[in-house]
Amino acid sequence: MTQSPFAGSPLRVGVVGLGVMGKNHARVLAELPGVTLAGVADPDAAQVDFVTSRLGCPGFASLEALMDAGIDALTIAAPTQLHTPIALAAIARGIHVLVEKPIAQSVEEGRRIIDAAERAGVTLMVGHVERFNPAVQSIRQAIADDDILSIQITRVGPFPPRMSDIGVVIDLAVHDIDLIRWFTGSEIAEIQPQTNSIHAEREDIALLQFRTASGVLAHINTNWLTPFKARTVHVATRNKYITGDLITRQVTECFDYKPDGSYSMRHLSVAYAEPLRAELVAFIDSVRTGKAPVTGGADGLASLDIAMRCLGERAAPAVQPKLVAGGRG
Ligand SMILES: NC(=O)c1ccc[n+]([C@@H]2O[C@H](COP(=O)([O-])OP(=O)(O)OC[C@H]3O[C@@H](n4cnc5c(N)ncnc54)[C@H](O)[C@@H]3O)[C@@H](O)[C@H]2O)c1
Repeated sequence: MTQSPFAGSPLRVGVVGLGVMGKNHARVLAELPGVTLAGVADPDAAQVDFVTSRLGCPGFASLEALMDAGIDALTIAAPTQLHTPIALAAIARGIHVLVEKPIAQSVEEGRRIIDAAERAGVTLMVGHVERFNPAVQSIRQAIADDDILSIQITRVGPFPPRMSDIGVVIDLAVHDIDLIRWFTGSEIAEIQPQTNSIHAEREDIALLQFRTASGVLAHINTNWLTPFKARTVHVATRNKYITGDLITRQVTECFDYKPDGSYSMRHLSVAYAEPLRAELVAFIDSVRTGKAPVTGGADGLASLDIAMRCLGERAAPAVQPKLVAGGRG
């Protein structure tokens, strides 16, 4: 058996892009056993100062300087438009990469990242963090042995001021497209999208309907027009109806329907875990062991492709994703 090049030594990991998400990446990585937060990079000096002053790690103004400091792996939390050039530059230096969702701003760019990672033999993971949400895992476990009939997901909230030219479908619905593919273990075969732009240049409201190849009907309601954040999942199976709140992490199952209309209800147990921590632990494990990540490039690309098709920007992925049955997520 070949030994991991990192056996016994801490993995040197860097973070590029220190906004809302990157700050969390850095915080979690700084606490992970077997990991050294080797540095963080952002052209905005205030962001670098914020992180380095709290975590005591080296800070850099550019990706090049961070990579010159010597890193084994990089998490990319820069704006989506920059995922491709950053990922390609890291991969070219043999650095393992976790790129935030969506994998890239276009299917073509996503495919370039995947091809480069395959050629270089480095780990490529896409940050579809909802697969690591304990409430999502509880729902998936509850429906695992049943015949899924329909899935309904709501992901709404106020308009994020930082958002530039990425709309709600690529930014938010891509999470739920990934969940629908993961819950059903099937690819989305038919799409009926309705989108509109009320306040933004790109779409800020979308109602998306799907039919998977396995025949499941699914619906995503997403927008940036709601004054509060809500994330709910409803799944109807042949024998149960599951409702899950991904924020409060309460998951409820209705079952044992009777002819008189009565039924039983129970709350399902949901583990306590920070999804981002679980995701980063899984990434580190893939880097160390060479095991395929739970959400690899092909999965990220397949979900992005469906999101693009909802916007009428079609291009089928050449890479077939492997839907991990019973995976860690
Ligand atoms: N998994 C999730 O649930 C989740 C949630 C939010 C955001 N995201 C993803 O994370 C990424 C970042 O989103 P965010 O909300 O943190 O954005 P943000 O705007 O808060 O932060 C982006 C950061 O990148 C920095 N940056 C700009 N140009 C750069 C460059 N050339 N090199 C390095 N850094 C650069 C900016 O200065 C800023 O600090 C996006 O791809 C987004 O889709 C994922």
